[in-house]
Amino acid sequence: MTAYKRLTGELRGAPRKWLVTGAAGFIGSNLLETLLRLDQRVVSLDNFATGRRSNLEDVKRLVTPEQWARHEFVEGDIRNLEDCRRVCEGVDFVLHQAALGSVPRSLADPIATNAANVTGFVNMLVAARDAKVKRFVYAASSSTYGDHPGLPKVEDVIGRPLSPYAVTKLVNEIYADVFGRCYGVPSIGLRYFNVFGPRQDPNGAYAAVIPKWIAALMKGETVIVNGDGETSRDFCYVDNAVQTNLLAALVEEPAAINQVYNVAVGDRTTLNELHSRTRKLLVDAAPAAASAKVEHRDFRPGDVRHSQADISKAKRLLGYEPTHRFAEGLEATVAWHVAQLRQEQGRPAA
Ligand SMILES: NC(=O)c1ccc[n+]([C@@H]2O[C@H](COP(=O)([O-])OP(=O)(O)OC[C@H]3O[C@@H](n4cnc5c(N)ncnc54)[C@H](O)[C@@H]3O)[C@@H](O)[C@H]2O)c1
Repeated sequence: MTAYKRLTGELRGAPRKWLVTGAAGFIGSNLLETLLRLDQRVVSLDNFATGRRSNLEDVKRLVTPEQWARHEFVEGDIRNLEDCRRVCEGVDFVLHQAALGSVPRSLADPIATNAANVTGFVNMLVAARDAKVKRFVYAASSSTYGDHPGLPKVEDVIGRPLSPYAVTKLVNEIYADVFGRCYGVPSIGLRYFNVFGPRQDPNGAYAAVIPKWIAALMKGETVIVNGDGETSRDFCYVDNAVQTNLLAALVEEPAAINQVYNVAVGDRTTLNELHSRTRKLLVDAAPAAASAKVEHRDFRPGDVRHSQADISKAKRLLGYEPTHRFAEGLEATVAWHVAQLRQEQGRPAA
């Protein structure tokens, strides 16, 4: 039995109180769904900066009325300390996801990114410290590896940040470490590597590549590739990220706490491969995908060229076992988007 299976079994029998910040967003709503399915009590917070009410509605539809009744949503802002204090009250575990994502967004507006990702983060740490939570798990980022060329990435070898966003995520780690040493706040940082899956927003200038390309291909629109397409990523299906959050919240081994971990699969996929696989998976349900053109543009400033994680630390200290490799995750994600499309068109699911 994996550590995760054991843990979920134990949780069902002994519900705890969790706080998920950024719950109307992509990863946050997946965390909320999993926790409610496990009969946990959850308070969640979001200001809808990038999150969507429809994500919360989706979770409500996917859980039982009894499970949904164990959830309290608070519309609030992590830049406001009082909001953070209110949601931390009586909470055992914090899963802090709220932030402004996207490297290009941070280049366009570093002040907004800093306010949510640094000021908001410190507010959350102070509120969690004062509420004496048992664990503060937070969304860190693979962008912290910056310009270090080594592959695969190991947690203790980082380079210089390549964007304001990357600075904020590095600063989060430094603050969490200092709050551990100065105030005894037990934290764990999860360096996500390009997480993807259901409910990731395909729209807007700062959408992530996988939902954006699926949406474009389904409509037969031109797919924009930044650079030559040989840029590579360790794309990580969201269930793997959910798993690490729960493992990080409950791990008791002292050596595992006040640490950061890579969260990925350990595979490397180029954008060209991603494009051809996605198109193949889509053509039956969305024939327009077959004729969608590809346009190559300049490399984006602030982007790293290659990314691949060494996940042995999370395996060793947290008991992490990814349930989805890239191909399985992509299949599940495409199936979800196709089901959404059918629903919008009023057609029954295949
Ligand atoms: N998706 C990835 O590949 C990835 C990779 C590395 C790190 N991360 C980090 O994971 C976390 C979740 O990312 P996501 O992909 O789910 O993004 P997302 O944009 O879908 O979710 C972030 C949520 O935070 C909320 N939020 C933003 N500012 C807020 C504020 N001031 N107060 C309250 N809520 C606020 C947004 O409305 C949104 O619902 C973020 O911290 C992000 O930086 C994500």
